[in-house]
Amino acid sequence: MTNIAAHGGQLINQYNPELDLSGISKEVELDATALSDLELIATGAFSPLTGFLTQKDYDSVVKNMRLADGTVWSIPITLPVQDASGYEKGDTVLLKQNGTVYGVLSIEDIYEPDQKLEAQNVYKTTEEAHPGVKKVYDRGSVYLGGPITLVKRIEREQFAEFYFDPAETRRIFQENGWNKIVGFQTRNPVHRAHEYIQKSALEIVDALLLNPLVGETKSDDIPADIRMESYQVLLRDYYPADRVKLAVFPAAMRYAGPREAIFHALVRKNYGCTHFIVGRDHAGVGDYYGTYEAQEIFSNFTAEEIGITLLFFEHSFFCKKCGNMASSKTCPHSKEDHVILSGTKVREMLRAGEIPPAEFSRKEVVEVLIRGMKQPTNA
Ligand code: ADX
Repeated sequence: MTNIAAHGGQLINQYNPELDLSGISKEVELDATALSDLELIATGAFSPLTGFLTQKDYDSVVKNMRLADGTVWSIPITLPVQDASGYEKGDTVLLKQNGTVYGVLSIEDIYEPDQKLEAQNVYKTTEEAHPGVKKVYDRGSVYLGGPITLVKRIEREQFAEFYFDPAETRRIFQENGWNKIVGFQTRNPVHRAHEYIQKSALEIVDALLLNPLVGETKSDDIPADIRMESYQVLLRDYYPADRVKLAVFPAAMRYAGPREAIFHALVRKNYGCTHFIVGRDHAGVGDYYGTYEAQEIFSNFTAEEIGITLLFFEHSFFCKKCGNMASSKTCPHSKEDHVILSGTKVREMLRAGEIPPAEFSRKEVVEVLIRGMKQPTNA
């Protein structure tokens, strides 16, 4: 185990495949986000959470970015239902998806959240045009709170070999003798700017956990299966195999920008990372957040409260005059010399089969992406 303590002090384990389910008749149907949250709570990725938030914790997270006991927590992990009339406090219910029981919930609390306030505080907007806000409004207007037990692991057909629980990543880090591990969140292919900040970080730590999010993302993000292939090609050709671990982060993307950056950092601490990268507009979408807001938000907390070392990076790009990757901290040249493309522009190019410049993305990565984007299901 790396020495870093889990958030809240102890790595949570709420998995018990032996749990006796007889006599439990009520059930809740889980959507994709709730199912992934259930598993991430149970495996300790969301330590110190032991279940879906009760109202006391929810209110405190929404208003203060802390659980009721004061522990930093920025994203409400909730179990919404459309109709709660069949449930009562004290019930134990099965958590199911498509006929399969994945867990149980002991209902401690049933409450009607102020979703406008949740949207405003967590996402900084109440607009439905924001994909995270839309999901809050769509998922259900009553929340069930209480501790969970996971009774069945989710079976993975795709890239199963890249799923590791926090206890496993911690063991892997230790087996490799890595003491300082930097975690990298991404929902995109790894372009040159990502590579640059990852490798800048690698210069000062022992290893990189490339930890792409593969849970639900918005429909115009590049699908996880294509991304996974592109990561493997890139690591094979350009990264030191003995200092990088590729593991997926099976959470849903919230697009909550600054608040999600905190959440992403705390979760990577639970996976055993000692450092975490936050670049420009981390977990952002559209123009909802300022370029460096996801870095600035950490000033609300002490280093001890966060417990993982943050590595902040400026907006990076290739500079033609410098002849290398740079940022405004290291490059004196003007914008005209910089190769900067928006994610939207790059996706458009890839869909059209156009190759983004080599200064933006490695050709091996582009080849995978263009091939992937041509598949009819991903068009
Ligand atoms: S995210 O939604 O998962 O944050 P993305 O995959 O684009 O999106 O970013 C992964 C990480 O790289 C984030 O920390 C982000 O801030 C950082 N990042 C992305 N592009 C750049 C860039 N050009 N310069 C600096 N940091 C960047």
